[in-house]
Amino acid sequence: AVLQLAVLVGSLRAQSFSRKIAKALAARAPDSVRCRFIEIGELPLYNEDLDGESPPAAWWAFRAAIRECDAVLFVTPEYNRSIPGCLKNALDVGSRPPGKSVFKGLPAGVVSVSPSKIGAFGSNQALRQTFVFLDMPAMQQPEAYIGNAAELLDDKGAVTNADTAAFLENFMAGLETWIRRVHPGGSSFDA
Ligand code: FNR
Repeated sequence: AVLQLAVLVGSLRAQSFSRKIAKALAARAPDSVRCRFIEIGELPLYNEDLDGESPPAAWWAFRAAIRECDAVLFVTPEYNRSIPGCLKNALDVGSRPPGKSVFKGLPAGVVSVSPSKIGAFGSNQALRQTFVFLDMPAMQQPEAYIGNAAELLDDKGAVTNADTAAFLENFMAGLETWIRRVHPGGSSFDA
C-alpha cells in the first residue's frame, strides 16, 4: 500500500530554501510514497494550561494529520545551531498530552538545509536528540546536510545541480526502503 509520509518544514518564510528542497524531495518520491505537507506556522505556542478538554483547534488538526501518517520527513534550516522554534513547538504540540504523543514510534527522516557550507549540521543533530525522548527511530544513512542551498536552486525552486537532484532522489528511495523495514506494522501500509 502507499506509504503516507508527513513532511514538516522548519521554516515559515515564503522563499524558504528548506521548503524548496522539501518540494524537490517530494517531487522525487517513489510512486508508492505520498508526501503530505503538514503546516506548523499557525500552531499556538505550546502551553499546558490550554491542553485540557478543548485544546486549540490548530493543535487538534495537527495531531490528527500526523496520526494519519506512517512516517515523518523533517526538512529544516538551522537557527543558532539548533532547530527553529516553530519546529520545536510542533514537536512539543504533537508530543502531548502524556501517553498520547502522535509521534511515538513513527520513523523519521531528516534533511537539514542552509545557505552556508556546514549544511545545518547542528539542527540535524539537535533534531535527532529529541527523537530519543519521542521514541522515533531515525534513518541513519544516508545523512542529508544540504549546504550552499542558494546555489543549488533557481528562482522557481528547481534544483539546478544534477548531483544534488540525484542525491535527493536516492534519499527518498532509501527512506522508503528503510521505513518499510523498520516499521512494517505501519498504520496504513501494511495491508
Ligand atoms: C539563521 N541562519 C543560520 N544558518 C546556519 O547555517 N546556522 C545557524 O546557526 C543560523 N542561525 C540563524 C538564526 C536565525 C534566527 C536566522 C533567521 C537565520 C541563516 C539561515 O540558514 C538562513 O536564513 C536560511 O535561509 C533559513 O532557511 P530557509 O528559511 O531558507 O529555509
